[in-house]
Amino acid sequence: MNQYFTNNANLKSELRVLKYSYGEYNFMLNSDLGLFSKDKIDEGSKTLIESYFIFGKKNVKVLDVGCGYGLIGITLGKVMNCEVDMIDVNERAIQICKTNIENNKVNAKVFKSDIYENITNKYDVIITNPPIRAGKKIYMQIINESFNYLNPNGELWFVMKNKHGVKSVYNTLKEKGYSKIIRKNKGFYVILAKSA
Ligand SMILES: C[S@@+](CC[C@H](N)C(=O)[O-])C[C@H]1O[C@@H](n2cnc3c(N)ncnc32)[C@H](O)[C@@H]1O
Repeated sequence: MNQYFTNNANLKSELRVLKYSYGEYNFMLNSDLGLFSKDKIDEGSKTLIESYFIFGKKNVKVLDVGCGYGLIGITLGKVMNCEVDMIDVNERAIQICKTNIENNKVNAKVFKSDIYENITNKYDVIITNPPIRAGKKIYMQIINESFNYLNPNGELWFVMKNKHGVKSVYNTLKEKGYSKIIRKNKGFYVILAKSA
């Protein structure tokens, strides 16, 4: 069965355009079959970026892990003037994200990486709506290994649903160092964590 993180060159294409607005900023994002939340901006991703717009840092270097068609990185690039790298394992997502970066004229680049395998830089912020359906091993690796790719005082931002066990993930991070619940909305928790 096809999942939003599997590559399938035979999957047909049915392009559609999603709109997202925040204040004076208007975004048009191409989406397609085989991508996460292809028909509608995901409520968790929306909660995450709108929390970041209020409480996050401007003008910093950001890595968007599991970027999909690019909502998170593209909007942070524009609204927060961040310099953004975006990664995904899904090749279709990468192609569409590339087009969306160009169309929305953002200071960002996207490339393929299975989790952090192609990451050589360090970042001020790593942000993700992690791929829950890929399984706990993958999404916990995204969360736990993020600290290896953060600058001193770097921040991990992520969103997860209550029913997916966000409280236990949050408690584990809290034991290791600083961690804070930034926002709760419709069962989604936005978590900010810093390495100790
Ligand atoms: C929940 S979706 C979020 C997509 C997008 N950031 C958004 O907010 O709409 C998670 C993304 O992680 C990607 N992904 C899954 N496994 C991955 C892996 N091992 N390495 C990198 N990305 C992965 C999926 O392809 C998917 O695009």
